[in-house]
Amino acid sequence: MDHVMGYQYDTLIYNVRIASMQDNGLPYGELPPHAIAIAAGRIAALIPCDDALGEVFQQANTVIDATTLIPQNEGDKTKLPWLLPGFIDCHTHLVYGGNRAEEFEMRLQGASYVDIAQRGGGIKGTVEKTRRADEPTLLNTAIKRAKRLCEEGVTTIEVKSGYGLDLDTEVRMLRVAKSLEQHLPVSIQTTYLGAHALPNEYAEDPDGYINFICEEALPHIASQNLANAVDVFCETIGFSTSQTERVFSSAQKHGLPIKAHVEQLSDSKGAVLAAKYGALSVDHIEYLADSDIPLLAQSGTVAVLLPGAFYYLSEVQKPPVDALRAHNVPMALATDFNPGSSPLASILTAINMGCVLFQLTPEEALRGATMHAASALGLHDRGVIEAGKLADLTLWDIETPAELAYCINGHRPVAVYKEGKHV
Ligand code: NIG
Ligand code: FE
Repeated sequence: MDHVMGYQYDTLIYNVRIASMQDNGLPYGELPPHAIAIAAGRIAALIPCDDALGEVFQQANTVIDATTLIPQNEGDKTKLPWLLPGFIDCHTHLVYGGNRAEEFEMRLQGASYVDIAQRGGGIKGTVEKTRRADEPTLLNTAIKRAKRLCEEGVTTIEVKSGYGLDLDTEVRMLRVAKSLEQHLPVSIQTTYLGAHALPNEYAEDPDGYINFICEEALPHIASQNLANAVDVFCETIGFSTSQTERVFSSAQKHGLPIKAHVEQLSDSKGAVLAAKYGALSVDHIEYLADSDIPLLAQSGTVAVLLPGAFYYLSEVQKPPVDALRAHNVPMALATDFNPGSSPLASILTAINMGCVLFQLTPEEALRGATMHAASALGLHDRGVIEAGKLADLTLWDIETPAELAYCINGHRPVAVYKEGKHV
């Protein structure tokens, strides 16, 4: 809404520079000086900072001069902190049992990710440990991991299942993921990733496992509202395009949007299939062919780049960033936080890696972890600073937003607001 005289706001924040991420033609969507009024967890109004602002102060229960929140600022009113939308980590697998430090050592000695997977390690190793983990253990470890993200200003996290594969453990993972909302100031979006690996009990019957996903697991998960989306690992060491298509069509039948791990290790044409099904996102995409990119543009699918996995697996094939940019395919960035290919508990490092490894500009990287990450989750109520959106906000002691992409471990937000509450 626009500012209304007489309306009572919960909070008013002023003396900030706003990187709104709106598409207003300016870098980072910067706005001219505005105060931000918050009511009922949302951005109620953006109010121009002019002589009349003083009168608006009476309309807010709490008025915050953001310069007072900067440590060692010594009352300097000329150095304004920057306000950004809360970060959205739109691709993680942060609920799991155990860890894969041993495999990391094996890889350093020359074993490849694919070798390890084919020898029954990799995702399957984590499946064993996750099946054995009880709910409190899964929850406590997930809280520790998610907390690291929140400390950097992440206010929404997508969490995938996929380390249980059987219905019981998948449901447990999805419940644990959602319950993080009770322990941390964060919104959780859950994704059912049953088609992550073939469980040992179906080793001789891969299509039987797809039947189980489509006829038992997915209908149950959909009917219990346990997932916001469905994902598939479409890959030579994952599932074929025809198996993937069966899962997509079942997801569609149950009204769940689609996301997909595609073209991470080979060009399996999973992205073409995902586009045909109107997927919210295609993720990884190092091996995506330039000629398939127009299809993503047509289907409005977001390209989610995961530089953490590229880095940890010492990959050399980069995603086709120039061609994605040329076709205006929105690019999101995420941590892919998982125990095998990307044990990365830092969205700011993912942002830095997106620039250094994939040549994104700092602006693209920051938009990728805010507005485009929101689109990758089909969320239209966050990711930009605009009246009506959730008041998920971060405040930074920086001179330019590019600093957040440039420096590794140099910054933490000086304040985080989750739905208007200072957390
Ligand atoms: O996004 N590619 C498949 N899934 C994860 C890796 C999971 C694992 O290795 O445990 C990924 O990279
Ligand atoms: Fe992943």
